[in-house]
Amino acid sequence: MRLLDGKKISNEIKNEIAAEVAGMTARGEKVPHLAAVLVGNDGASLTYVGSKVRACKRIGFDSTLEQLPEETTEAELLEVVNRLNEDPDIDGYIVQLPLPKHIDEEKILMAVHPDKDVDGFHPANFGKMALQMETFISATPFGIMELLKRYGVETSGKHAVVIGRSNIVGRPISILLSQKGPAGNATVTLTHSRTRDIASLTRQADIVVSALGIPNFLKADMVKEGAVIIDVGITRVPDETRERGYYICGDVDFEAVSEKASFITPVPGGVGPMTIAMLLKNTLLARERHQA
Ligand code: GUN
Repeated sequence: MRLLDGKKISNEIKNEIAAEVAGMTARGEKVPHLAAVLVGNDGASLTYVGSKVRACKRIGFDSTLEQLPEETTEAELLEVVNRLNEDPDIDGYIVQLPLPKHIDEEKILMAVHPDKDVDGFHPANFGKMALQMETFISATPFGIMELLKRYGVETSGKHAVVIGRSNIVGRPISILLSQKGPAGNATVTLTHSRTRDIASLTRQADIVVSALGIPNFLKADMVKEGAVIIDVGITRVPDETRERGYYICGDVDFEAVSEKASFITPVPGGVGPMTIAMLLKNTLLARERHQA
């Protein structure tokens, strides 16, 4: 078994981006500027946004955190979005999800200017991704593709089974794996909560991508010998013996499944760190495109 080490690869990518930024600075060019909008006090979202802002600092990007109270209205959030759209200093920004229930997420994501939508959530960017046009590919599926490419995992002609049909992970990764090109050319089965007998499908899979959010869902008897396992799950499981009061658990029963897998991502340290690296990559692309 080989570990798909997202921590290591994400550090390589961040070093590559940092070198680009150093070149920009040396030439007297403006460095990329990422803004993140966070509404409310969701613990996981605070952690993720904090990591994104820290990563910007580490590689030499400018960053801005717009932290808004839970009671922020939809109109107020739209004002912030419009201000970021118009601010020439901001190359790209994200609105961290989930948003409080009183705000229509779709309305907000539609208001983000596609040229600054480094999350790739706007329908124009999702559509371009599906058509293999130049766009911003969402960080999580982008990170999975990059991990497969950098480890030279063969995907062409393989059967990939994706678990979960979310707009952020399951749906886009199923499209990307099926496309022509590196880490593509797979035959994809997209499974979800209404799929009958998921285990009979995962047992046939050369590659399993699990983006379900159920701790230890994928057991050893559900996977084929030699399968490639990508675990996108990051569930917080309460545990009072831990300093933080919880631990992070993936969708995959790692200990048992890793005995059968040819490649497997750990949780934490697999897909998670890759998403941050790819968000930075998209922000660098945004800067370059704004300059062009
Ligand atoms: N919530 C969970 N994942 C993401 C992500 O990739 N981007 C944003 N904006 N919110 C998220």
